[in-house]
Amino acid sequence: MRSDLIAAGMVRSWLEANAPHMTESWSFEITEEIQGFINRVKMLLPDVDAQFVSQAAVPRTAITHWNLTDVAVLGGGMASPLSPHPHEALYYTDINPAVVEEVGELGYNTRQVDARSLDDLKTLVGAKTALAIGLIHFLDDAAARQTFANLLDAGFERVVFNNMNNNVSDELAGNWHKLGFVLYRREPEDIRALLPSGWTMQEAVIASEFLSHNPDMGDKLSRLIDLHHVYLLERD
Ligand SMILES: C[S@@+](CC[C@H](N)C(=O)[O-])C[C@H]1O[C@@H](n2cnc3c(N)ncnc32)[C@H](O)[C@@H]1O
Repeated sequence: MRSDLIAAGMVRSWLEANAPHMTESWSFEITEEIQGFINRVKMLLPDVDAQFVSQAAVPRTAITHWNLTDVAVLGGGMASPLSPHPHEALYYTDINPAVVEEVGELGYNTRQVDARSLDDLKTLVGAKTALAIGLIHFLDDAAARQTFANLLDAGFERVVFNNMNNNVSDELAGNWHKLGFVLYRREPEDIRALLPSGWTMQEAVIASEFLSHNPDMGDKLSRLIDLHHVYLLERD
């Protein structure tokens, strides 16, 4: 099952209940299998959709709040009304060619990129900022450390990413596990220990504070439960 479609379905469910005007021009279709999975998870964890929203809103918040330019979105998944607008992302990438094709049809400049691959990252010519949301916490320590090293070697000047905190419930982590994804929960001190020399952590902001700067609905998003931090790394 495509994790990005689960994420997008969760975002739609939350927007329909909390900000229906934002879904008006979003033509997004979902299979019965994925909708069924979303419904089952929502029965167990009614607020789970808010957790997906609090991740999906990070890229556009980061771009507008930190005035980021020359941005490459990594592992972007299906775009939603909360995503960066096409002109705000120099590249919109994903490892999955189906995502690349579908998001390309929405007007984004897409590339198929494995965020862990130095060769792939080097194809993003001109990109200075990497936005890797919902990605690092699915990598074990060795893979996360190598990805940070690759981003440095590929020439990026800054990286924005998030990582789920230790307070994420075993139930939520278990649901990802059922889909084949191991969730690595980490706190800022754990992230610091993973950084190769060459990167400095400029910011580690709890999600609610960070999302208060969202240009579409910062007030509403700042009231979501805090399950992750947003990090800004800068090249030394
Ligand atoms: C759950 S979606 C997250 C979408 C969005 N970034 C968010 O946080 O709302 C995860 C996406 O990451 C992509 N992905 C997984 N591993 C990847 C990798 N190594 N490199 C690039 N993309 C990857 C998947 O194909 C999927 O579209």
